[in-house]
Amino acid sequence: MDASQSNAPKSATLTIGDESWELPILNGTIGPDVIDIAKLYGQTGKFTYDPGFTSTASCESQITYIDGDEGVLLYRGYPIEQLAESDFLETCYLLLYGELPTAAQKADFDYRVTRHTMVHEQMSRFFHGFRRDAHPMSVLVASVGALSAFYHDSTDISDPQQRMIASIRMIAKIPTLAAMAYKYSIGQPFVYPKNDLDYASNFLRMCFSVPCEEYKVNPILSRAIDRIFILHADHEQNASTSTVRLAGSSGANPFACIAAGIACLWGPAHGGANEAALKMLGEIGSVDRIPEFINRAKDKNDPFRLMGFGHRVYKNYDPRAKIMQRTCHEVLGELGIKDDPLLDIAIELERIALQDEYFVERKLYPNIDFYSGITLRALGFPTSMFTVLFALARTVGWIGQWKEMIEDPSQRIGRPRQLYTGATQRDYVPIARRK
Ligand code: SDX
Repeated sequence: MDASQSNAPKSATLTIGDESWELPILNGTIGPDVIDIAKLYGQTGKFTYDPGFTSTASCESQITYIDGDEGVLLYRGYPIEQLAESDFLETCYLLLYGELPTAAQKADFDYRVTRHTMVHEQMSRFFHGFRRDAHPMSVLVASVGALSAFYHDSTDISDPQQRMIASIRMIAKIPTLAAMAYKYSIGQPFVYPKNDLDYASNFLRMCFSVPCEEYKVNPILSRAIDRIFILHADHEQNASTSTVRLAGSSGANPFACIAAGIACLWGPAHGGANEAALKMLGEIGSVDRIPEFINRAKDKNDPFRLMGFGHRVYKNYDPRAKIMQRTCHEVLGELGIKDDPLLDIAIELERIALQDEYFVERKLYPNIDFYSGITLRALGFPTSMFTVLFALARTVGWIGQWKEMIEDPSQRIGRPRQLYTGATQRDYVPIARRK
């Protein structure tokens, strides 16, 4: 029985001094109820205060559900463990349309995405303005934002057709732009997409093929990267998705909103953690130095944190991390990498941390970024491309959440308030009279 049928209270009573107000309680299909405070300021003249939004639901959504205590992740109700065995474009269809596609719908979706994978030829000139050692994330932010300069027929967000074509274009072109950012960083020529390859194979070929020889896609590795995309596709109202929603709430075009999401994802506390986690494993260097770094992570005076550990929502094992660990072993096995010292360090670090009371009492577990770096490095990507791959996969989540927000009749521009603790009003003193 869900809360709406039980005798659960329908409202919360707020009492301040000798005044009380009833605040409606809204029920979801699963997960915590919410207290509707939309009228709070009008009724009480007070704001709520929740920096970091630890207790704040910013929107209503039907796309992704996370149960952090149970380590559950559902895309449109389907468990990530089951979807990890589907293919990424099927997951894209599910996230965008809300239902799994029939065979005919899937074939049509694949066809539509495949035929939008090329970018305007003039886009390639943007890249040549960057230094070769520019971080690929800086190139990706710029090139995705620049898409709005080329596709004027998909920036009218009031037109459902244009919203869908913009969504398809974003999903289709992000691998091409990501591969171009990689090729540019290593001084190799761009590789055009091929329509007879599936999404993941096309991406691997655009990254790793060279004009001088045929490139044969390894199906095990292509399957692995496709699954990695599925794991990263969406994750409810995380920092970058909230950024996309806030940017979109002003009516900004979808390409600019996705560029804003990419910029937010770049931070080491968010999508940049996969790059930071691999660097951390390299800095630890050997299993016998793990205790030193565990102590540093626990030391309040040391800013060091175990990258790839902990999560705002998961207070249990991130279900994606388990699948990522399995994928890591699959890739290393396929490539014949028997003893990757960083993997040995990661496994031992996880074992020690999960026994240490500091991590246990704070419910800090490996998250999706803990094993992804080792896997992506084994696949041939430099650490600077790790967050680019995260952004590539999360683009469908961002555009799906953007579309849901635009199509929500109750949506308004997001405009939070604040607790002001600055100077009270005072008069200007001309400089000649200042002491
Ligand atoms: C992603 O939101 C999402 O869904 C994100 C994501 C997605 O798919 O979109 O899942 C992707 O961003 C995963 C997280 C990747 N980031 C990292 O791995 C960076 C390392 N992790 C931490 O920085 C941290 O755990 C966060 C940022 C992920 C979560 O931070 P919170 O929720 O604000 O937690 P907190 O900083 O308040 O920490 C609570 C306590 C603190 O100790 P006390 O002050 O209570 O004594 O736990 C400690 C923290 O010091 N802590 C850590 C730690 N993470 C938290 N201590 C050591 N190492 C860590 N990694």
